[in-house]
Amino acid sequence: MQTKILDPNCEKTYALAASLLAQGGLVAFPTETVYGLGASIWNEEAVRSIFRVKGRPFDNPLIAHLYDFSQVEEIVHCIPSIFWILAHAFFPGPLTIVLEKKQHISSIATAGLQTIAFRMPAHPVAQNLLKMVKIPILAPSANLSGKPSPVTAEHVWEDLEGKIPLILDGGRVPLGIESTVISLFDPENPLLLRPGTITQEAIEDVIKKSLKKPALSSKPISPGMKYRHYAPNAKIVTFKTIDELNHHLTLHPKLPRIVLSNDELGDLHFNASCLYAAFRLADQKKCQEICIYLDPKSLQDVALMNRLNHASCQ
Ligand code: TXA
Ligand code: MG
Repeated sequence: MQTKILDPNCEKTYALAASLLAQGGLVAFPTETVYGLGASIWNEEAVRSIFRVKGRPFDNPLIAHLYDFSQVEEIVHCIPSIFWILAHAFFPGPLTIVLEKKQHISSIATAGLQTIAFRMPAHPVAQNLLKMVKIPILAPSANLSGKPSPVTAEHVWEDLEGKIPLILDGGRVPLGIESTVISLFDPENPLLLRPGTITQEAIEDVIKKSLKKPALSSKPISPGMKYRHYAPNAKIVTFKTIDELNHHLTLHPKLPRIVLSNDELGDLHFNASCLYAAFRLADQKKCQEICIYLDPKSLQDVALMNRLNHASCQ
């Protein structure tokens, strides 16, 4: 299959993308978090093909991407009042909510769970596409399973060239890590399933109660979190002071490496927007190590540290 990368600067491109989706094709598109690989929620063969193309295990459910609130009612069984409080505060934006699904939603999409995850992306390209296609679009991150989520159209191309017909190129995405996921399945006891840019504190401030973590059990509530996340081939070495980092660099000056630091020593900044790009770059350049200066502010960034920890444990 020939894969096109198009700059979504005109109606015609959106019309092409929307018609591919409506016919059961897959289209990669930018969101404010990472690029997504979209398929129509109403086409079971298309939903299956997402898993096939990504090499994604069938027990890892997908997030539906919506354009307006009437679409929430299309897919969710019953909307609790806490949902509206969160939606008014954070939609559209990088927050995914899990609620009981309507019966007719494909159990392939939800990996057999009785719940469905959904969000309203804030990226204009995602919004234009969803508005035109008028169908809830399921979209996991547009990478091969086991690779870092893509933050540019080129990353999507690296992983999926020849496997999908179209990538909408919206440039580099603004945030760089996946959405915060919370479950409102039990509205009295909301759970934080995945940290993200919208912090636990910001959510708790709005809902006026604390978010719990899911209890450890044999059946994970958010199956995606149990999978081994991407670990770059290069060793990740972290430093708590600039002096330690400097010392390390002078001891081994020639080692092929990338340095992530929010000062002049860094090849790239250490932040959400650079993390996945740095992993891909390190592997491309066959680096032996990725040296990261964990400055005090970054150490407080729960979502960034969560993704770094997942990548660091081999
Ligand atoms: O920012 C994002 O969320 C990106 C963009 C493309 O929207 N998408 C994304 O999708 O990160 P994915 O498939 O890479 O991650 C989906 C996460 C997984 O951890 C999965 O287990 C969880 O959401 N999830 C999906 N449906 C769920 C459900 N019904 N109950 C609990 N967790 C669910
Ligand atoms: Mg993913």
